[in-house]
Amino acid sequence: LSSQHSAADKGLKDYYKDYFPVGVAVGPQSLQGEEAALIKAQFNSVTPENAMKMGPIHPEENRYFWRDADAIVSFAQANQLRVRGHNLLWHEQTPKWLFKDAQGKQVSKEVLLKRLHDHIFTVVKRYKGKIYAWDVVNEAIADNPQEFLRNSEWLQICGPEFIAKAFEYAHEADPDAVLFYNDYNTERPEKRERVYKLLKQLVDAKVPIHAVGLQGHWSLQEPTEPELRAAIERYASLGLKVQITELDVSIYPWEKERRAKRPGESDAYTPELEQKQAEQYRMFFRVFRDYRKVLTGVTFWNVSDRYSWLDTYPVAGRKNYPLLFDQQLKPKKAFQAVVSF
Ligand code: G3I
Repeated sequence: LSSQHSAADKGLKDYYKDYFPVGVAVGPQSLQGEEAALIKAQFNSVTPENAMKMGPIHPEENRYFWRDADAIVSFAQANQLRVRGHNLLWHEQTPKWLFKDAQGKQVSKEVLLKRLHDHIFTVVKRYKGKIYAWDVVNEAIADNPQEFLRNSEWLQICGPEFIAKAFEYAHEADPDAVLFYNDYNTERPEKRERVYKLLKQLVDAKVPIHAVGLQGHWSLQEPTEPELRAAIERYASLGLKVQITELDVSIYPWEKERRAKRPGESDAYTPELEQKQAEQYRMFFRVFRDYRKVLTGVTFWNVSDRYSWLDTYPVAGRKNYPLLFDQQLKPKKAFQAVVSF
């Protein structure tokens, strides 16, 4: 048997059974056909890519839309997959009604916290015992290194207190759930220190927070191995567990991925790029294995190169190839790289 062959017969979850669960972000459209088969063969955890965010799941104050979220949870239960809930509070994908009263005026802090409370109680209690972990607060740190918290409507209306409140509500709704703060670029030293500052404030104030999610929207350039190790160690020093919650490795540098394609620019996925990507994935997983005591999960953001959020974000027209399976759902070089150890 060639290593290629035997590797494909075993799933990521089997290779990593002594380390951590390996998960994937899914939508309701992935729960049937060959994609569903791949998910069942490879992974033992799922995260709803969009279905549990406040906009999709709570479109009107007195109406929830459960269909997609329920479908994902049922699929997971039928196939012994864990579920990570994503997410309870974010500045994006919020429903239109959330920050406004019936007259269209911005609501008060009291009203907004009451809405947050009711939302978290309703969603978390519905899936109590079925969802083992929640991304409670997502991306609350500002993009500008000179600022601390993101200047979102949450911050404008409530002040910084909304963060602790969200964790308290979630803990009350399900005392057994593992509660996460989740963010991106958490390995860049300047952002790492701001995330650390927030987490330390929460831990010092005895807020029920248990873990930090490093999203892991990475590239061939970053993070470097020392940056990745330093970030995991810094967060773990607070007594928090760590997960990689949204892993993909873009073949474009961060700057290029986020702007429109220039005339004549090549976007070819060359064998050299595929090889470089495999080496990058190999390094990441070697580091993850080293930290198995604090690193309690790794989740990929999308199933295969057939579809990735990076294909359209923030501009359409530049296809990306960031995952372990190709557009035919076959394992890539990067797959071999992470399972050969
Ligand atoms: O559902 C609507 C549909 O009704 C509408 O017709 C269509 C037209 O635009 O849009 C659909 O919504 C899209 C949604 O994905 C579902 O496909 C939104 O426009 C689109 O913005 C949304 O993108 C998601 C993005 O979060 C939102 O900012 C991506 O799929 C999702 O992968 C991405 O995930 C985030 C994590 O939650 C947090 N970390 C970063 C990560 C990547 O941005």
